[in-house]
Amino acid sequence: MNLLIMGAPGSGKGTMSERICQEFDILHISTGDLLREAVQSGSELGKKANDYMSKGLLVPDEIIHDIIVDRLSKDDAKKGFLMDGYPRTIAQAIDLDKILKKLNMKIDRIIQLDLAHEVIAERITGRRVCEGCGTIYHIKNKPPKVDGVCDLCGSKLYTRSDDTLESLKVRLSEYEKSTKPLLDHYADLVKIEEIDGDGSVDEVFHKIEDVLRVLS
Ligand code: AP5
Repeated sequence: MNLLIMGAPGSGKGTMSERICQEFDILHISTGDLLREAVQSGSELGKKANDYMSKGLLVPDEIIHDIIVDRLSKDDAKKGFLMDGYPRTIAQAIDLDKILKKLNMKIDRIIQLDLAHEVIAERITGRRVCEGCGTIYHIKNKPPKVDGVCDLCGSKLYTRSDDTLESLKVRLSEYEKSTKPLLDHYADLVKIEEIDGDGSVDEVFHKIEDVLRVLS
């Protein structure tokens, strides 16, 4: 089962991806996570990417191409994957079509998460992320048992540098301009499941689970 999950920044893609990949035993490929790892490692690629990410802008397509080819070529992608935050531009979608063709793979479904901008702002400003294992928390909706500490691995939680209202404005506008048009690109190619992203984590996950069960 090969899936794409799409939706505005803060709509719950990362949170739902964790649950879907665990439930259906597929690989989670998040370009945002891969880029943040590159930034943390201090590599040349990470330094370049950080110039864009810190401003809420999209990272250039050629950087993303290399990251995706590298990740999809590894053996663990053969069991099935969920791409989170990619593709994000029409150019990336066309590039992905070519990469998948070469690897003899295809996308089976797209999950599109819909959420009002006011709810997104509340979710983004309360998000905390584990610096050790990447688990996503929210200070009100999904607080850790001990303040500032990951329940799963005990590492410290941090606030992403792009989780400000100022950066969110730019990210939402990038989404509307560059990413939303992908829904038209894929309309005749892949079945798109529109999911209402409002509701608790369990409620939203169960809606997704229902539409994916038919595939597994
Ligand atoms: P990326 O990491 O992909 O960020 P994003 O798309 O902005 O999405 P987010 O991670 O902010 O939100 P999410 O939808 O995953 O929400 P989450 O589950 O965390 O990209 C970051 C940057 O990297 C981009 O701006 C760009 O610069 C660059 N980049 C990445 N990919 C790229 C690409 N392909 N091309 C070019 N540039 C690229 O949830 C948010 C909060 O809400 C959490 O606190 C969570 O606990 C809470 N929450 C989630 N679901 C619920 C629920 N149902 N109820 C209550 N609370 C909930």
